[in-house]
Amino acid sequence: MQIDTALVDRLRQRAVEAASRSYSPYSRFPVGAAVVSRGGEIYVGCNVENASFGLTQCAERAALTAAIAAGERPGDLVCLVIYIPGEARHPPCGACRQVMRELMSPESRVYSFGDGDAYRVWSANEYLPDPFTPESLLG
Ligand code: THU
Repeated sequence: MQIDTALVDRLRQRAVEAASRSYSPYSRFPVGAAVVSRGGEIYVGCNVENASFGLTQCAERAALTAAIAAGERPGDLVCLVIYIPGEARHPPCGACRQVMRELMSPESRVYSFGDGDAYRVWSANEYLPDPFTPESLLG
């Protein structure tokens, strides 16, 4: 699947919608994410916080979990877009990078948008070089 501007725009739109549904009363830091599979299916997630703060779920992992629950397999996911309102283009947290690395294809890209058209983009090796992978478990 070709990761072109139209696809990134569509994912961005879906991430913006997802961020509007964020449950983040404690941080007041809404995050939306949208991920697309090779087959063109889009899955979204937003951050969901809890009064027991450590139980917070990040938007990126929520989107990836939704994709797996819908039947996508590791390596099927080719592009993920993050949206966080404001002027910055925030990078994903370390926990999300680890999960992206295992579930997204090796050639995948991760984009981060705020408000406006500027963005940051990372390849898998850029966001997590020298990863711990399923192969690491083999010895
Ligand atoms: N958050 C995400 O959803 N994704 C990230 O990559 C970084 C942080 C959320 C967790 C928490 O609800 C809020 O942003 C502030 O950390």
